[in-house]
Amino acid sequence: MKDSFERNISYLRLSVTSRCSLNCIYCTAGASDCCRCPDELSADEILEIARGAALAGFTKIRLTGGEPLIRGDITKICREIHKISQIKELCLTTNGIGLAPAAHDLRDSGVSRVNISIDSADPAVLRRITGRSCLNDVVAGIEAAVSAGFESVKLNAVLLKGVNDDVQSIRQLAGFVQKYPVDLRFIELMPVKKKGFSFSSYFSGSDAVLRALPDLEMISPQGFNEGVADMYRLPGACGRIGIISPVTACFCRSCCRMRVTSDGKLRPCLLRNEEFSIRGLNAGAVADEIRRAVFKKPSGHDLSPGTVCLRNASDHETADACGLEMQRIGG
Ligand code: 5AD
Repeated sequence: MKDSFERNISYLRLSVTSRCSLNCIYCTAGASDCCRCPDELSADEILEIARGAALAGFTKIRLTGGEPLIRGDITKICREIHKISQIKELCLTTNGIGLAPAAHDLRDSGVSRVNISIDSADPAVLRRITGRSCLNDVVAGIEAAVSAGFESVKLNAVLLKGVNDDVQSIRQLAGFVQKYPVDLRFIELMPVKKKGFSFSSYFSGSDAVLRALPDLEMISPQGFNEGVADMYRLPGACGRIGIISPVTACFCRSCCRMRVTSDGKLRPCLLRNEEFSIRGLNAGAVADEIRRAVFKKPSGHDLSPGTVCLRNASDHETADACGLEMQRIGG
């Protein structure tokens, strides 16, 4: 499916819940796994959307959240999406906490790739970021994912100034690619809509990674064959390092994504607030709506180093005021 800027749109990120078992400082999800969110899509609604996406031409679906593994029906959802022949890749992003017991079932249900969020390898720092002592569970999740035989296991670490962007923290995280055959991607923080959260206080440019790991050797730049990350080899390591810089080096020109929020809204661009409701439509109508919405996909967002902002905002403070509801949109 081509958009107005000749980009081939093939990758749908589907947020299956806004609930999460963590309460990260840069996210609004909060620890809320006890109750069902009233406007969360049902499994049947998710499957209808996935079938519509396939009809419209999507070939890759990633299930995100919130935390997808909070849903008791997540493996059923994966199994059904895997049956849709046009969907060649089914991926899942998780905070890793419930992954150890679920990894093999997810693999058997057709998930080919998993991304695991882990912002620090230090238990106290990870607790500070996530609000929960969870390092052991997440590491167990990483090990289970590696042994379950996914085609790829990626670790995501969001850089936070003064929290995990120092040389020691970055090198400690890099220890994962020395131990496991995984890709560790450092991600620049994007503005989030959270009361009391100051984007400007926490933003740290990805150059911190290159300073902390001077031995990195570039394998492929962003937009080459690894999507949004610049990929590097760390000499002697079995895994690789990636750097994702949505703020200091925007990658909109090669964007191939659309998103569906956990309450069933189609979102052509992560950083624009325009959304189209596709809830309750049958697969054919979902596909029609997607084909219409693809032409609403903007050429790019307004997030750039000089004016870290959304839409017409012009300074960091405004970015703080109008940031993203990441848990509903799915990162
Ligand atoms: N900025 C950058 N990345 C974020 N993620 C979540 N919130 C943010 C943010 N504000 C990342 C997490 C997760 C992925 C889905 O999105 O690392 O792994």
